[in-house]
Amino acid sequence: MTAQKLCLTLRPRSDRSQTETELLADICLKRINTLAVNVPPNLKFIIDDAEDLWIYDQKFDFIHSRMMAGSIADFPKLITSAYENLAPGGWLEFQDYGLPVKSADGTHIGTSVEQWGELLCEAGRRLGRPLGDDVSANYKRWMEEAGFVDVEELHFMWPTNSWPKDPLMKEIGRWNVVNVVDGLEGFSLALLTRALGWRKEEVDVLVAKTTAGLRDKRIHGYFPIPVVYGRKPF
Ligand SMILES: C[S@@+](CC[C@H](N)C(=O)[O-])C[C@H]1O[C@@H](n2cnc3c(N)ncnc32)[C@H](O)[C@@H]1O
Repeated sequence: MTAQKLCLTLRPRSDRSQTETELLADICLKRINTLAVNVPPNLKFIIDDAEDLWIYDQKFDFIHSRMMAGSIADFPKLITSAYENLAPGGWLEFQDYGLPVKSADGTHIGTSVEQWGELLCEAGRRLGRPLGDDVSANYKRWMEEAGFVDVEELHFMWPTNSWPKDPLMKEIGRWNVVNVVDGLEGFSLALLTRALGWRKEEVDVLVAKTTAGLRDKRIHGYFPIPVVYGRKPF
């Protein structure tokens, strides 16, 4: 399958302008063109609004969602849409991030890193698009309530930086700190200004403090990374 033959549809969301929708479609197409080089023949990319009605001409065997916390207003509704569009015996999987950041030894408590996570969660609540633990801690229950069976929840961790002794965890932390610090202003600005009424300058200060906290190896923080999957009964 070549990228040119991909079927693309994007239904505009009511709170998005036509220009924004076209821009998003363009960005998605460019990303798919990059990704589509090595896709297997039974996989195709469709750009669609997951919060809208799911109208497809086939049932799916596997539906996967990664890092969608903060994007979706009503996860139980999304899970019901997935259930209805799975073939009997088909699987649904969520991978997401927890927030606020945690630690086993309490070194995160009272830090800017903890405060930043709490503020983002509060902003998500006020905007009606929950994120962090408000979403990821509920996937298992929501899936069971929707009728999924054999629901399993696995817990992974992304350390806030290279503080762990374990070589694999150290490596993950090294990647994670670059990723989070790089995106920190982008993750925070809209949420804090639009939902909590902060000024840009106030966000800048929090971002600077949080960056320092994320790089601080005395804070043994980690992002909980849950993976939850379950099966639609036959
Ligand atoms: C944090 S990104 C995760 C992207 C990707 N799943 C990953 O793990 O790399 C969230 C994505 O959700 C998309 N998104 C937001 N609202 C959506 C919706 N209602 N339907 C489909 N996608 C949506 C955004 O455009 C963005 O690409």
